[in-house]
Amino acid sequence: MPKNLHIKHILGVESSCDDTAVAVLHGDGRVVSSVLNSQHDIHARFGGVVPELASRRHIENIVPIYQAALTEAGITLDDIDLIAATQGPGLVGSLLVGYNFARALALAKGIPFVGTDHMTGHILSIFLEQQKPDFPFIALIVSGGTSSLFLVKSDDEFCHLGRTRDDAAGEAFDKVAKLLGLGYPGGPAVAKMAENGNPKAINFPRAWLSEDSLDFSFSGLKTAVLQYCRAWNQAEPLPLADICASFQEAMVEVLAKKTILAAQTYRVASVILGGGVAANQALRERLLSLCQENNLRLYCPRPGYCADNAAMIAFAGWRKYQRHGPTPLAEDVYSRCKLG
Ligand code: KG4
Repeated sequence: MPKNLHIKHILGVESSCDDTAVAVLHGDGRVVSSVLNSQHDIHARFGGVVPELASRRHIENIVPIYQAALTEAGITLDDIDLIAATQGPGLVGSLLVGYNFARALALAKGIPFVGTDHMTGHILSIFLEQQKPDFPFIALIVSGGTSSLFLVKSDDEFCHLGRTRDDAAGEAFDKVAKLLGLGYPGGPAVAKMAENGNPKAINFPRAWLSEDSLDFSFSGLKTAVLQYCRAWNQAEPLPLADICASFQEAMVEVLAKKTILAAQTYRVASVILGGGVAANQALRERLLSLCQENNLRLYCPRPGYCADNAAMIAFAGWRKYQRHGPTPLAEDVYSRCKLG
């Protein structure tokens, strides 16, 4: 089994969707550099990520972002002892760019390479922070591609308790923003608009599914917003702030209550939040208040570590390497979630 001792710097590479990111992590757990280029400019006019455009932009970005990460860290490739890259889940064309770039670097330098799971990166991103939870804990991971609840028993044992049956939370935010003409990415735009609205103005549906289900479903909520807009035939303009606040309220209520249900069912003391939607202030506040009511500790990484980033990939890759050693160079990327 590999030893930790000779690992001084880990290079992390992330390209699973529309962010090209490279980070350097020190073996003592400090993030030495974390550089990211998001592609919002090219996807904005489509209201969502266009896979081929994303892959092409990763090809343009990967070398400059890698060079910037090394420069920011004040080191060269000679100082890197382990390279980790996102192997999946994600858009295959995007994954292949970062994965093959990282694999080629490792091969050329003769250093170990570890293919790293993106969801594991989100789950373990809290360990980049000072305040770290004890195992076991419940993780709510909500992003543009996923809405999932995990029971996390160790840094290597994850039980997938619930997942979305249709749209991911971030996807629903993005689609509602597109429908309302608020721009892309939709989450921050909807959240901003919601600040001036009444969350109780419109009673949008909550899909609880069966009584003890930890799965999510947001397509009905999204369709309810569409129907509300179509049915609006009054002279005044659509009440955008109330629509956004009421939509966000419905989403946040379901996410937060199911997370608490998971924590109670599996008798854990801590909950962690991750993924791009974790930047949502209403979600953070609701989860915090429900956690306090239920004697649970809530851990949220800073927004930069919630959204896609390469520091979490460096960390998760390093942990995987410590347990399982390097990934065979013949292994390929994968598109679907493999956890539990
Ligand atoms: O994890 P992430 O950075 O990457 C992907 O899944 O690709 O998450 C991006 C998602 C987008 O859907 C975006 O609209 C959503 O996170 N998001 C938010 C907020 N900030 C980003 N959703 C709700 N409220 C926010 N403040």
